[in-house]
Amino acid sequence: MTEVQQGRRRLILPAPVGRIGTSQPNPEPELLAQLSPDTVMMMGDNPALPKMPPKPRLLDFFRARFDDFTVTHLLTSAKRALDAGQDEKVVTACLLHDISNACLVRSDHGYWSAQLIAPYVSEEVAWAVKYHQALRYFADDSVGYAYPESYRAFFGADYVPPEYIRRDAEDAKRHRWYMTSRSVTMFDIYFFDRSETIDPEIFSDIIGRNFKEPDEGLGFDGSPVAHMWRTMIWPNNFL
Ligand SMILES: [Fe+2]
Ligand SMILES: [Fe+2]
Repeated sequence: MTEVQQGRRRLILPAPVGRIGTSQPNPEPELLAQLSPDTVMMMGDNPALPKMPPKPRLLDFFRARFDDFTVTHLLTSAKRALDAGQDEKVVTACLLHDISNACLVRSDHGYWSAQLIAPYVSEEVAWAVKYHQALRYFADDSVGYAYPESYRAFFGADYVPPEYIRRDAEDAKRHRWYMTSRSVTMFDIYFFDRSETIDPEIFSDIIGRNFKEPDEGLGFDGSPVAHMWRTMIWPNNFL
């Protein structure tokens, strides 16, 4: 796979989920018109991206694929949970809570992130990640969690989340794992200016105990979500 398409011009069609609804026209017809024996649609390793090892592990994605902003956000959330003496399942959930935003998809990111990690973490960690998205919109005075100021800026002060979010937040509040997911929302803070550098390696022991790295590498273990990890390894594949 890695040495395919050598010596040819390789065209990249951006994923529709990130383009549709924007001012960018669909470039597909124009790209297809450029195909020739010397010009192909990209498949396999994109040399513009850092090379991934043949059996990628979680932190390889942090280093070689995830965007800096999301990495800082995830590491900071997890570090704050750790410093607050939270248990490892909360630290793990914080470390992974927005993982789909880093290289895959943003819309419904809690649901995508939970699905991406579900085969490798405890059911409770995946559950906490799934429901943090909905719980973020709802204050809980009993633990000092207020509606995020950042959400007023992101969505407008009058934004009301849709029905499925309200319903899922209600379900989550009644669930025995509510506080695990609520804890994720409490450490889910954006640090726009003051981004201390956190070495992801400080979490390697916690990852070792709470994230089952598949022997074949993420993307190659035949799990129901392996294709999602492969999509992050080869985000520019045409098909
Ligand atoms: Fe989130
Ligand atoms: Fe977050």
